[in-house]
Amino acid sequence: MSKVALVTGGSRGIGAAISIALKNAGYTVAANYAGNDEAAAKFTAETGIKTYKWSVADYDACAEGIAKVEADLGPVAVLVNNAGITRDAMFHKMTRDQWKEVMDTNLSGLFNMTHPLWNGMRDRKFGRIINISSINGQKGQAGQANYSAAKAGDLGFTKALAQEGARAGITVNAICPGYIGTEMVRAIDEKVLNERIIPQIPVGRLGEPEEIARCVVFLAADDAGFITGATITANGGQYFA
Ligand SMILES: NC(=O)c1ccc[n+]([C@@H]2O[C@H](COP(=O)([O-])OP(=O)(O)OC[C@H]3O[C@@H](n4cnc5c(N)ncnc54)[C@H](OP(=O)(O)O)[C@@H]3O)[C@@H](O)[C@H]2O)c1
Repeated sequence: MSKVALVTGGSRGIGAAISIALKNAGYTVAANYAGNDEAAAKFTAETGIKTYKWSVADYDACAEGIAKVEADLGPVAVLVNNAGITRDAMFHKMTRDQWKEVMDTNLSGLFNMTHPLWNGMRDRKFGRIINISSINGQKGQAGQANYSAAKAGDLGFTKALAQEGARAGITVNAICPGYIGTEMVRAIDEKVLNERIIPQIPVGRLGEPEEIARCVVFLAADDAGFITGATITANGGQYFA
């Protein structure tokens, strides 16, 4: 029986590449998404990967959604907390809603998804939790006090939970992507991207979603059991944490 992997925000961008890479590595994959039904339907048609709609910002919806995935596919062995949003603004202009939406999705989303799965992983003595943080959680970024705070929080969550899961066969790791060429990044003004962002990346290009997906497959493997509490930085040399 192949292991079940659940990828949040798994139907688009980096998450879609992760879902596909895990499927190709032999996992039975469930891809969660928030609201873009059209993209999810297209993704399922193209890949055969089942998609499930709920918001990671809603604890009860996560518990219900996970129960549905497990009823359909079996117990989740690998959880990839990938869903994330940006609501950028300089701090003097940032609204409480912009702060809260990012915290609810990018930080509380990790609690909401991991908590309902944790006891099952402990009982089965196996689990892989992989959290997609960001370079901007490591170095901070002007215009992203909300996003940088949430993504830094993801790293603290990873390190604390790694200690709790270690004896139960559960590893908890984080990946910090740099700038990856998804819709989230392509939404940045092209002039800003070409003149301000890409010149800061020593390899001279944006990363590919597949380059993050390969890190996930590595951390998810049975024989990655000695790696826990770690942060893999994949940012083209832009920042050394
Ligand atoms: N792109 C980058 O350069 C970059 C760099 C560093 C870190 N990251 C992180 O990598 C992750 C993926 O980024 P991306 O660029 O691939 O983003 P993206 O292309 O905007 O895709 C985001 C995915 O997350 C889902 N999502 C958003 N809010 C959700 C919620 N509340 N509940 C469930 N799913 C939700 C979206 O669902 P719908 O399709 O329904 O909207 C979509 O599938 C994020 O955590 C991001 O912060 C990205």
